[in-house]
Amino acid sequence: MPVITHIEDLRVLAKKRVPRMFYDYADSGSWTESTYLANESDFQRIKLRQRVAVNMENRSTATKMIGIDVAMPVAIAPTGLTGMQHADGEILAARAAKRFGIPFTLSTMSICSIEDVSQGTGGHPFWFQLYVMKDRGFIERLIDRAKAANCSALVLTLDLQILGQRHKDLKNGLSAPPKLTLSTIANLMTKPRWGLGMLGTKRRGFGNIVGHVSGIENMGSLSEWTAKQFDTALNWGDVEWIKKRWGGKLILKGIQDVEDAKLAVGSGADALIVSNHGGRQLDGAESSIRALPPIADAVGRQIEVHMDGGIRSGQDVLKARALGARGTYIGRAFLYGLGAMGEAGVDKVLQIIHNELDLTMAFCGHTKIDTVDQGILLPGTY
Ligand SMILES: Cc1cc2nc3c(=O)[nH]c(=O)nc-3n(C[C@H](O)[C@H](O)[C@H](O)COP(=O)(O)O)c2cc1C
Repeated sequence: MPVITHIEDLRVLAKKRVPRMFYDYADSGSWTESTYLANESDFQRIKLRQRVAVNMENRSTATKMIGIDVAMPVAIAPTGLTGMQHADGEILAARAAKRFGIPFTLSTMSICSIEDVSQGTGGHPFWFQLYVMKDRGFIERLIDRAKAANCSALVLTLDLQILGQRHKDLKNGLSAPPKLTLSTIANLMTKPRWGLGMLGTKRRGFGNIVGHVSGIENMGSLSEWTAKQFDTALNWGDVEWIKKRWGGKLILKGIQDVEDAKLAVGSGADALIVSNHGGRQLDGAESSIRALPPIADAVGRQIEVHMDGGIRSGQDVLKARALGARGTYIGRAFLYGLGAMGEAGVDKVLQIIHNELDLTMAFCGHTKIDTVDQGILLPGTY
């Protein structure tokens, strides 16, 4: 077993242990992947200012996101098919998040259902991410199920009415459960650990959907389902309707433009997430860390600004925080931990990111995450 010291080690291990179809689903962006790659590389250009001889005792990364106490300003991002990276993946990641004291966000397109995760975490509140489908009755029921499960925020994703093309998913014939072609079977045979886990669970389909929408017994491929069911007519009027129907804390996900950020303020939402869906939708969009500063400047005093995209370390979290994000989300980082080592892998991801954040904050001369601001960044590098 290799010594795991950073997120990259977990990515390498996940690639070995997760069937190719699902590893590729996580580690890819749309079309040329230019936005996917820029999300990570643009963090590297931002430089930190080292300060010395500052008392580093009594440090804390604890803060709040939408009024909720968090051990560090990091939440688990909603990701579809997480229960295909590892059996019962959503339950395992939610447990790790609970133990660490950060929010877990469950995707509409999860394998484990809202009820599974609630039960698996002893009723601990989590956040639910909503995709808007044409069938409004189904959306109403989903919202009601999230309320019944004690979800403490609704994350409404606005950047996926249609699906950006990922070449690998089409070539691999991505579906859940996987269709058993010869090449899929050959690949699954090299992943015994994954296979054993899957044999031990009954959760192998889209838990929030199958059995909850009439006529849906087997959904086929994700791209087919999206094309048929997602509401291409989604607009700000729907946001208002959903806000009313939900009645709790609302976070709008997928904002990349200052004009949209202003509309988000007008909607009365509690927070927005600067996000390009991890480079999976508009290829050619700006990286999230570059899109963040103008949005934080324009609306950061009226609405809580969060960000995701490209975060692979605590240093990245610190830079996002310095540029105005009150909170951040990790997608692939936690998926790699989960695929590599299940629940212990997600624990490891959170420990690594926390440790990097804590030490880097101290090197920059701060002992509390709440005092960190743009002053820790080298001018001209952001
Ligand atoms: C495999 C995968 C599946 C995703 N599924 C969803 C989803 O179901 N709903 C959603 O709002 N965002 C989804 N996202 C986007 C993430 O919530 C988040 O915006 C993105 O992963 C952040 O970038 P990062 O992976 O570089 O951290 C997905 C991302 C990945 C990598």
